[in-house]
Amino acid sequence: MDTDDVLGKAPLFAALDRESAAALRAGVSEMNLPKGRTLFREGDSGDRLYVVLEGKIKLVRTSVDGRENLLSVLGPGEMFGELSLFDPRPRTATAVALTDVRLAGLGHDDLRPWLTGRPEVALHLLRALAQRLRRTNDVMADLVFTDVPGRVAKALLDLAERFGRQSESGLLVHHDLTQEELAQLVGASRETVNKALADFAQRGWLRIEAKAVVILDVERLYNRSR
Ligand code: CMP
Repeated sequence: MDTDDVLGKAPLFAALDRESAAALRAGVSEMNLPKGRTLFREGDSGDRLYVVLEGKIKLVRTSVDGRENLLSVLGPGEMFGELSLFDPRPRTATAVALTDVRLAGLGHDDLRPWLTGRPEVALHLLRALAQRLRRTNDVMADLVFTDVPGRVAKALLDLAERFGRQSESGLLVHHDLTQEELAQLVGASRETVNKALADFAQRGWLRIEAKAVVILDVERLYNRSR
């Protein structure tokens, strides 16, 4: 997919007609980030919003004793770095390239006139924020109410929805996460998450591969996630 196609999927551009999209596009700068490189850190001052064009970005928060909480994994068409646009304070999370990544960046100052001049763009961004809040509420409720295997099942299905593709043997989800990162996403220890994965594999619901899983029985995994 070329840059315009991917950008067109992003909430920022989705509301725009072709001409306006081209005008906003003029302010966009593209950049490449090699796998493992940090784009910005929690606490940095932020002046840009980004859309992932290719590859995956992880958003992480680190506790004072160095433990990491993985907030989200973002892929093509997904946006981040907008919180410090609406609420001009430091970055709320650290952004790291999970794979080699290509990004489109747009300065907050270039964007503000678009938000005040075009309420439909602001509405689309608000909708994206509302979706994020819904998701965060679900994640919080799951941390309180759902056991670790249930959270692992849910996280895999969420990743499958965005990164899964049908293969001959099942739904291949190339999430690019190490087992440690998967545990950080679920909010549990690596050992507990590995045990849940091994149990799912033993039941025939999925197959574990390097930084990927093949989901063989979506329905059973879904039932376990509820
Ligand atoms: P900003 O605070 O500018 O920089 C970090 C970005 O991470 C933030 O904007 C959001 O785009 C993104 N982010 C923060 N919290 C979450 C979350 N809970 N889920 C998904 N993305 C988030």
